[in-house]
Amino acid sequence: MSEDVVDLIMQDHREVESIFEKLQREPEVRAGLTPVLVTLLAAHSRAEESEVYPAARDEAGEAEDVAHSQEEHLLADRLLAELSECDPFGDDYEKKLKEVVDAVTHHVEEEEKTVLPGMRSGLDDARRAELGQAFLKSRQEHLGDMPQDRTRAEMKQQAANADIPVGDKGKEALRDVLDEHADE
Ligand SMILES: [Fe+2]
Repeated sequence: MSEDVVDLIMQDHREVESIFEKLQREPEVRAGLTPVLVTLLAAHSRAEESEVYPAARDEAGEAEDVAHSQEEHLLADRLLAELSECDPFGDDYEKKLKEVVDAVTHHVEEEEKTVLPGMRSGLDDARRAELGQAFLKSRQEHLGDMPQDRTRAEMKQQAANADIPVGDKGKEALRDVLDEHADE
């Protein structure tokens, strides 16, 4: 198995796409599979934000693309939290699932066109392998989390990635500022 962080991230993207297809095609799997999707994406995003985006910004010169990607994560988190509140057998589910699929598909396409190629060219193999280990460890620690389960330190990291000045704000104030930047 590749340890390259870019390969690991792309593997998750393909996994998420196959879950999207199942959720769209097979309504009977929604009740069981929705929580899997939600926590997989939450864990994937937290691991990217803490281990990968800072390196992409500081070591690969990807500050602008990282800031944009981070804002898209904020939106995805909000939509995923909303999806997890929908009755999988109800009318709202289908509509919310489409919003999640559209937002995440767009984000994945952009990330694979900007931040990830930037990491391939800007960081050497050893560094990408090191980041791969850190990504997997963080992702493992966050599996089971919901999108809104963020510590103050994690939210401060999100703000730094998105280049949003937050000073010394407390948890609730940080949450409000980040919500305003959920990219629509
Ligand atoms: Fe991402």
